[in-house]
Amino acid sequence: MSAKTVAIIMDGNGRWAKQRGFKRTHGHKIGAEVAREITTHCAKRGDIKNLILYAFSTENWKRPKSEVDFLMKLLYKYLKEEEQTYVCNNIRFRAIGDLSAFSKKVQKQIKHLETLTQHFTNFTQYLALNYGARDELKRAFEKIEGSIDEQSITKHLDFSGEVDILIRTGGEKRLSNFLLWQSAYAELFFSDTPWPEFGIKEFEKIMESFEKRERRFGGL
Ligand code: FPP
Repeated sequence: MSAKTVAIIMDGNGRWAKQRGFKRTHGHKIGAEVAREITTHCAKRGDIKNLILYAFSTENWKRPKSEVDFLMKLLYKYLKEEEQTYVCNNIRFRAIGDLSAFSKKVQKQIKHLETLTQHFTNFTQYLALNYGARDELKRAFEKIEGSIDEQSITKHLDFSGEVDILIRTGGEKRLSNFLLWQSAYAELFFSDTPWPEFGIKEFEKIMESFEKRERRFGGL
């Protein structure tokens, strides 16, 4: 079965940069380029429906102000420059997370891209921005009118699909509050490669290995 939804925790930017004598922020800069490369590659594959990238978590605000400021600038630049990528590759763009925390400028660009790409059909790239799965669930519960069941919860999430493949780069083996509900039956792949060094070759290895895994969804 081919993977329809791939989610990635793009970890290891800071350590990668530090080990090479750069500032941590340089790792994020290269990381944004890798995000573009993987996105364009998914467009070429044509069989992926959703690619969800964890770009900024609800916890990332706790980083030093200089790093948060850099990430905000990088995010805006990425959102500006990606317009080309989305248009050229027929990619629909969506943001998930609590966007109210971002500057008006960033929010406006997100809206612009979502509107511009809403009918694009190759696949959807979701950027998780000020995203935390617990926060997403809390916001979903607040929106539900009437009875709470699995369907009503799923329906009110920022992303209502199932994750097939969850990849985390950078050597750590944890989920860090990413898509906890949607990853209930996801196949997990942990890579020691830091995100700035992650590439198409390794992505393809993971996709191949996924094809070989037998998914039973709790059955036999
Ligand atoms: C984790 O690396 C990464 C982040 C907190 C942010 C992810 C951001 C990018 C990949 C760049 C921006 C991307 C877009 C799409 C705008 P880390 O800093 O936690 O690395 P470390 O674990 O080595 O410290």
